Amino acid sequence: MKNFKTQSELKSYLNSLNREKVKVGLVPTMGALHQGHLSLIEASQKNCDLTIASIFVNPTQFNNPDDLLKYPKPIEKDMEMLNEIGCDVLFHPDVDEMYQKNEGWNYQVGFLNTVLEGAFRPGHYEGVTQIVYKLFDLVKPDRAYFGQKDYQQFLVISQMNQDFKMGIELKACPIVRENDGLAMSSRNIHLNSQERKSALTLYQSLKFVRDNYQELSLSELLEKAQAFYQKDRLLNLEYFKICDVNTLEELNEKTATAIALVACTVGQTRLIDNVILP
Ligand code: PAF
Repeated sequence: MKNFKTQSELKSYLNSLNREKVKVGLVPTMGALHQGHLSLIEASQKNCDLTIASIFVNPTQFNNPDDLLKYPKPIEKDMEMLNEIGCDVLFHPDVDEMYQKNEGWNYQVGFLNTVLEGAFRPGHYEGVTQIVYKLFDLVKPDRAYFGQKDYQQFLVISQMNQDFKMGIELKACPIVRENDGLAMSSRNIHLNSQERKSALTLYQSLKFVRDNYQELSLSELLEKAQAFYQKDRLLNLEYFKICDVNTLEELNEKTATAIALVACTVGQTRLIDNVILP
């Protein structure tokens, strides 16, 4: 696997390729890789001639400085995993390589920035679009792969891709879950054994909604889903919503294009998950 730390090294490598013939897939990550990330690499490998993974813990998308400090950075292990799966290129820049001091970014995310993650993590999507724009602009990939777990992020990036007419084919790949249903996340390593058990509530409540979507009314579904969180003092539910899958507007009545999304802190660890309905 080629390993580049600077934009100029990566750019000159990309310039040496015949981009008419070599379809490039980009998998942007913040490292601490797990099976979910590997499924994105595999999806890219199936459909592209060259797969580039980036590992960059992007400071501008962390609205909580502690969260940034605590974010796991097991780069040696990540590189082993990428080598093993046969990823072609790793781009792993330092912060100074990607950002100038006090650099601005004023892309307006719009409605998606006002709901769910946008509402609970002010500035998060400005940071995400800022770095993803830079990565897209640098690599100019034919396709880019993201996980459905960050569903709202996928919609935000899709909107940016359209707004800037970047013409990249974006793919959202299915959530990869542990055997008991917990969505894989780089943050799961922060959970102690009690929290790990409690964290299962996210999937159980989503599954309840999916299994009962036809039978129960929207308000019953939401009430019963929220009740899953009430008896466990380790859980602090931020939101549990049923929304339109394309716009993330909250539904007033059930439709065939819905998604249930949840964010909850488990002890000190904030987790998100979702399922597409019905
Ligand atoms: O989903 C992530 O890991 C990050 O938000 C991304 C897309 C790599 C941007 O930093």
